[in-house]
Amino acid sequence: MCSVLMKPQVHVSDHPLLKHKLTLLRDVNTKHRQFRELVGEMAKLLCYEATADLWLQDWPVETPMGHVVGHKLYSEIGLVPILRAGLGMVDGLLEMIPGSQVWHLGIYRDEKTLRPVEYYNKLPVEPTVQLCLILDPMLATGGSASAAVEVLKRWGVERIKFVGLIGAPEGIEHLTSAHPDVHIYLAAVDERLNDIGFIVPGLGDAGDRQFGTG
Ligand code: PRP
Repeated sequence: MCSVLMKPQVHVSDHPLLKHKLTLLRDVNTKHRQFRELVGEMAKLLCYEATADLWLQDWPVETPMGHVVGHKLYSEIGLVPILRAGLGMVDGLLEMIPGSQVWHLGIYRDEKTLRPVEYYNKLPVEPTVQLCLILDPMLATGGSASAAVEVLKRWGVERIKFVGLIGAPEGIEHLTSAHPDVHIYLAAVDERLNDIGFIVPGLGDAGDRQFGTG
């Protein structure tokens, strides 16, 4: 077994629907409209896994038949899509957690150095959430995800999770070593990175395939 899978903060789903949809997503013949739909559907399924330990508070309500003490989410949640590819995951999560804030973060990976370059952020004046979910389909070298975590930590966010579709062992090692407190939720861990930093077998460039720019 791949050693990063032994780390307690790494959660790779076994859900059959995720496996089925991921296979369609990987297929080179899948066109961008279906690709986008699949990214959104998978984000929704991964949301279920990534939010399984959200904090709750008591919330009494009157039903038509009587009184019950139910539950309400305790935490305000921020969704942080890394542009561009993370955009495709936002709607799926907003359907599940409609009260979330969305903080856009623009980071691209320099093609030569593979280092992350931050070019845009739209964070609120001060952090007003207790939990941020970073959204990006691909965790390749882990540079972009680590840079996003650093931005959020500098901003004062205390609880951060990463939600992605496919991770490379190298990227998971990078992120877990730099930020062991950040839990990672994925649909799959692939074999490796190739010499230009793409995940193999992966699915190609998630941004280009979603937006038809490949
Ligand atoms: C891709 C991907 C991640 C990043 C992963 O984005 O969506 O953000 O690379 O690579 P890393 O783990 O090695 O940092 P890209 O730079 O291609 O930008 P795009 O989403 O605008 O296409």
